[in-house]
Amino acid sequence: MKLSTYGALLFLSVAGTTFLRAMADCAWDKDTEFPAPYPPLLFSVAAERTVLPVLEGGNRVVKLTEGEEVIAACPGTTIDALGLEAVTATCSSNTLLIDAQDWNMTELGCTSRPKESLQKNLGPCGTGGDMHQIGFDVLGYGFYSTITVCFDPIFETNLFSYHIVRGENIAARDPNPSTPSVKSDTGFFTVSANTCYMQASQITLMETILGDSSVINVNQSLYFARNLLATGTDFVTEQEQDAGYYYINAAPLWQTINNGNWKYLESSVRDMAAAHGSDIAVWCGGWDVLQLDDVNGNPVDIFLGLTQNETVIPAPDVLWKVVFDPSSNEAAAIVGVNNPYLKIVAPLLCPGGSICDQLTWLHGINYSDYEAGAIYCCTVQDLATAIPNVPDLGSAGLLTA
Ligand SMILES: *[C@@H]1O[C@H](CO)[C@@H](O)[C@H](O)[C@H]1NC(C)=O
Ligand SMILES: *[C@@H]1O[C@H](CO)[C@@H](O)[C@H](O)[C@H]1NC(C)=O
Ligand SMILES: *[C@@H]1O[C@H](CO)[C@@H](O)[C@H](O)[C@H]1NC(C)=O
Ligand SMILES: *[C@@H]1O[C@H](CO)[C@@H](O)[C@H](O)[C@H]1NC(C)=O
Repeated sequence: MKLSTYGALLFLSVAGTTFLRAMADCAWDKDTEFPAPYPPLLFSVAAERTVLPVLEGGNRVVKLTEGEEVIAACPGTTIDALGLEAVTATCSSNTLLIDAQDWNMTELGCTSRPKESLQKNLGPCGTGGDMHQIGFDVLGYGFYSTITVCFDPIFETNLFSYHIVRGENIAARDPNPSTPSVKSDTGFFTVSANTCYMQASQITLMETILGDSSVINVNQSLYFARNLLATGTDFVTEQEQDAGYYYINAAPLWQTINNGNWKYLESSVRDMAAAHGSDIAVWCGGWDVLQLDDVNGNPVDIFLGLTQNETVIPAPDVLWKVVFDPSSNEAAAIVGVNNPYLKIVAPLLCPGGSICDQLTWLHGINYSDYEAGAIYCCTVQDLATAIPNVPDLGSAGLLTA
């Protein structure tokens, strides 16, 4: 028997721990061995990402190897016991060594809920957009971006959001029963986005621009929801899930679709990422402006901003999503049509026709239920011919499984 194995066995019998852990490594159950209610975020400087739990036999376990360095951080607040926003900590036999002192993970809770921040105007992107990032400002680490937003300042609309689904960790994501309200921040909108999205505003607006408000029927989920393009549930920690609740990361999507086929598309992406066990890059944006017929049968562009007389915050005609696995160089594009009243879906934005039947990882979608959202699929290259904001992924193959 090798000495290291002997040591590990000895440790197990002595400590009687729940997890199989090497003698000097660290492993904490995210549900029982992390401080509550405000755990710190852990950043690995070497890996340039947050340290996230993995699912092990039903437990959500955060692991570090002996000697591994992390930055424990409570962005925007402090680690309560230390009065510091962030500290460098080194894993040593299930404790964290901070300035030559041992700390138990449970002792490193934040004083209050850690806060995300924005980095604005980072340069041009897409079709006339400005790039912004949502993430965490971490002392000793820098800005950790969770979402890149490409935002059109003229029509005050998201052109696309970019984020990564951590396939190794997504199955161990934090349950997050209370999500925050969507924030406007400053400098993005000439209207109150919050007012424009209100259901009562939508009813009044349709009366004004269509001459009839019956397209909005709240009881039947026929109203525009604030759909997050980089969706919160694609992130692992509660803090990262909550970070993206900004109107620049949102688009008006009919609630029947938001809670219908689009929801199944989103869960399909997470399940696919988990099955791959790798990082999946996701781009998601709106394209073009939804038109609805007024009482005279004339098509009218739907801008929620017209609630305050501004031609801003369009309801997109479609939402598109591109998923890309860099480890296999495979990608696929999915289009969701933002019109529950549609009778036929034509023409498709990809000239090659829909290829959803080849994407075996898609599940739960009812392709004939247009009220739940018509969905079709394209190669990324095919969709890029119609939507210039679709990323150029070169000759990436089709992500079929
Ligand atoms: C950490 O604190 C918890 C709760 O006080 C305790 O159960 C656990 O044994 C401690 N772990 C270590 C390694 O000291
Ligand atoms: C929606 O439901 C409420 C409560 O049941 C009802 O009072 C209202 O009339 C309904 N509205 C429509 C448009 O059906
Ligand atoms: C919007 O424009 C209409 C018509 O010009 C005007 O009657 C109304 O007062 C305006 N509303 C706002 C909120 O500015
Ligand atoms: C799919 O949607 C259609 C149209 O709403 C409906 O008739 C059908 O029952 C649905 N299929 C399933 C499997 O739910």
